[in-house]
Amino acid sequence: MKIRKASNADKDNISRLHVESIRKLCVNHYSREQLSAWTSVLTSSAYDQALKEKVFLVAYDSQQDLLGIGILDVGSAEVSAIYIHPDAAGKGVGSKLLNELEKIARRSKVFKITVYSTLNAKGFYMARGYLEQELTFHNLSNGSKLECIRMFKNLVNDAEPRY
Ligand SMILES: CC(C)(COP(=O)(O)OP(=O)(O)OC[C@H]1O[C@@H](n2cnc3c(N)ncnc32)[C@H](O)[C@@H]1OP(=O)(O)O)[C@@H](O)C(=O)NCCC(=O)NCCS
Repeated sequence: MKIRKASNADKDNISRLHVESIRKLCVNHYSREQLSAWTSVLTSSAYDQALKEKVFLVAYDSQQDLLGIGILDVGSAEVSAIYIHPDAAGKGVGSKLLNELEKIARRSKVFKITVYSTLNAKGFYMARGYLEQELTFHNLSNGSKLECIRMFKNLVNDAEPRY
C-alpha cells in the first residue's frame, strides 16, 4: 500500500470509493434516508474544491486501485475526511492515512487538530488519541443533517509516526 496526493484524474474513483465506504461501513449508525441523502451529493465534481484547497491524499495498491482517501484542511486545522474502501477496512489503511495527515499538519505548524467524526468512527479516532468534545451535526449541501462527534487531538507532544 502506498500514499500519494490525489489529482483530478482520481475524481471518479474517489467518488465511487466514498459512496461504497459510506453505504457499507456507516450502515449501522445512520438511517437509509440519511445514507441516501449523504451519498447523493458525492458526484465527482464534489471534490473540485478540496482538490484545489486542501491536502488530499489517496492510498492505493499495486494495481493502482484506490484503498482509501484522506483530506486535511490546514486552514481550519481539521481532518475533513478519511474513507476506506469496505474491502480494505481494518487493515491499517485508515491509520496510515491519518498518520500522514497529522505529520503534514505538524509540518504546517498545526498542533491542535479537529475532526467531525461519524458515529461509527469514534472508536477509531479515540484509539488514535482523539478526545470527544461534543455531539453536533454536519449539514449536507442538500439540506440534510448528519449527527457527528467533534473530537480533537493535541499534536504537539506526539512523536512522529514510524512506518
Ligand atoms: C473508520 C475508518 C476510517 C477506519 O479505517 P480502517 O482502515 O478501517 O482502520 P484501521 O485498519 O487503520 O484500524 C486501526 C485500528 O482502529 C480500529 N478500528 C477501526 N475502525 C474502528 C471503529 N469503527 N471503531 C473502533 N475501532 C476501530 C481497528 O480495530 C484498529 O485497531 P488496532 O490498531 O488496535 O488493531 C474506516 O473504517 C472507514 O472508512 N469507515 C467509514 C467511513 C467513516 O466513517 N470515516 C470517518 C469519517 S470522519
